Amino acid sequence: MQQMIFATKNKGKIKEIKAILSDLPLEVLSMEEAGIEMDVVEDGTTFEANALKKASEIAKVSGKLTMADDSGLEIDFLDGKPGVYSARYLGEDTPYVEKNTHILHLLKDVPKEKRGARFVSVIAAVFPDGRKYTARGTIEGSIAYEIKGENGFGYDPIFFVAEKGKTTAELSPQEKNAISHRAKALQKMKVLLQKEWEGQM
Ligand code: IMP
Repeated sequence: MQQMIFATKNKGKIKEIKAILSDLPLEVLSMEEAGIEMDVVEDGTTFEANALKKASEIAKVSGKLTMADDSGLEIDFLDGKPGVYSARYLGEDTPYVEKNTHILHLLKDVPKEKRGARFVSVIAAVFPDGRKYTARGTIEGSIAYEIKGENGFGYDPIFFVAEKGKTTAELSPQEKNAISHRAKALQKMKVLLQKEWEGQM
């Protein structure tokens, strides 16, 4: 079976990815499982550029099909910020409770209709022969008025999803995975890869 590397150190992401791609003829390996240790600097200005850069550099070193993702939160009132800088916003090591409190403060007097936001995930797949694909998934929501919920990570406690009447930090992992930006991008990527395999048969 063909092996594929998913370029992340995050065990939660790998588990989700293995589950979604389980019916493709692929053995999904984490960087650790593939024995690869390298950091790729995410210096692109788009999610696509960062995901493609990460996947391309690791595909070059490993000689294997490689997927990578880049994701972030876009807030309409802040002209799309923090966007591709979501992880580095206010400093890489700043606790999220501080980042989230700061955002709530910036949006203190902003009415509901102007609090729109979305999580974006872009997955890139790069084959050793240079073929490249990207797939984008989003989930629309708004910035809550207070921090709520204990699940998830990052900006989840301030990201309110109207259909659920909750923040994504109040959803169970299963509920979040069913609607998340990452799951949607992965599903799109799965269709692209399936077409690729059908073409080769
Ligand atoms: P990266 O894709 O690992 O570079 O991380 C992007 C950053 O975006 C994360 O560190 C979080 O701050 C934020 N982010 C991306 N997806 C989510 C999510 O599902 N919930 C909360 N924050 C997220």
